[in-house]
Amino acid sequence: MRGATEGINLVAECWGRTNLKAGDEILLTHLEHHANIVPWQVIAERTGAKVVVTPVTPRGEVDLVAFKGLLNARTKVVAFAHVSNALGTVNPAAEMTRLAKAVGAVVLIDGCQSAAHFKVDVPALGCDFYAFSGHKTFGPTGIGVLWGRPELLDAMPPYQFGGDMIRKVDFAGTTFREAPERFEAGTPDISGAIALGVALEYVMPIQAAAHAHEQTLLAAATERLQAIKGLTIVGEAPEKVAVISFNIDGGHPHDIGTLLDADGIAIRTGHHCCMPLMKHYGLSGTARASFAFYNTLEEVDRLAVSLEKARKMMA
Ligand SMILES: Cc1ncc(COP(=O)(O)O)c(C=O)c1O
Repeated sequence: MRGATEGINLVAECWGRTNLKAGDEILLTHLEHHANIVPWQVIAERTGAKVVVTPVTPRGEVDLVAFKGLLNARTKVVAFAHVSNALGTVNPAAEMTRLAKAVGAVVLIDGCQSAAHFKVDVPALGCDFYAFSGHKTFGPTGIGVLWGRPELLDAMPPYQFGGDMIRKVDFAGTTFREAPERFEAGTPDISGAIALGVALEYVMPIQAAAHAHEQTLLAAATERLQAIKGLTIVGEAPEKVAVISFNIDGGHPHDIGTLLDADGIAIRTGHHCCMPLMKHYGLSGTARASFAFYNTLEEVDRLAVSLEKARKMMA
């Protein structure tokens, strides 16, 4: 796959086009990345199915009571992020999957933000599809992974057509290979796959230690940022990866980003490809500091000092 986006599009198109019909429901959550919204909207339009959205709590968690209430016999697919890229919330993915499977739904988990930050045990989650991107796991851009339950993949039509995905081509008719080859038309991104393999071999053995270190940074950064006057943290779920989304009174997130950049600190600003979530909070966007295993407590300190300086400039 080129990344999580292509993986989700493949499932929406190949599984959705074959299995969804008018009256069926596709259950998402309000904190999804656009990559896990738009492919479902498009397939809903094409099949007559309906997109249903689980609300989030003020702390930025998926409202599990509402989620349970929205699941019903019409729910044919449930798609949700393992971890919110905008807020850092870690969703109870195994529990959500269990609930979705109880009504017979197919479950896709968008694992873009989880694979780099903690160990993911896909069979234990019990989902049907799991997608993530190479560049979020310290690998290259333009490559990613879609895992699918073999019996579902085998029953799905191909995604694209051409070389490599065929068994036999004849002008009288063409036959296709089994999964996964039938989903891999054309020359694959060989160099990208090798590089992603190397990145995963590097990151997988250090996942537990990285997670522990990142949680220390998260706790320290949360405490420091909470102490800054006029700074509001958006997304305060008890279980988070080391991501802090925030706003400062009187300053646009882009201003915060520019001021921090001048101090050599790179953060992300904007809607984080989560426009519906931003709308839910009545925000145009947030500033978002993200930590990885290579960050240090000294850098948390620099962030807090730089933010205090930015706050004063914007006041
Ligand atoms: C949660 C989540 N899902 C999906 C995507 C899309 O990933 P890609 O653009 O690599 O396909 C992202 C990228 O930021 C993401 O954070």
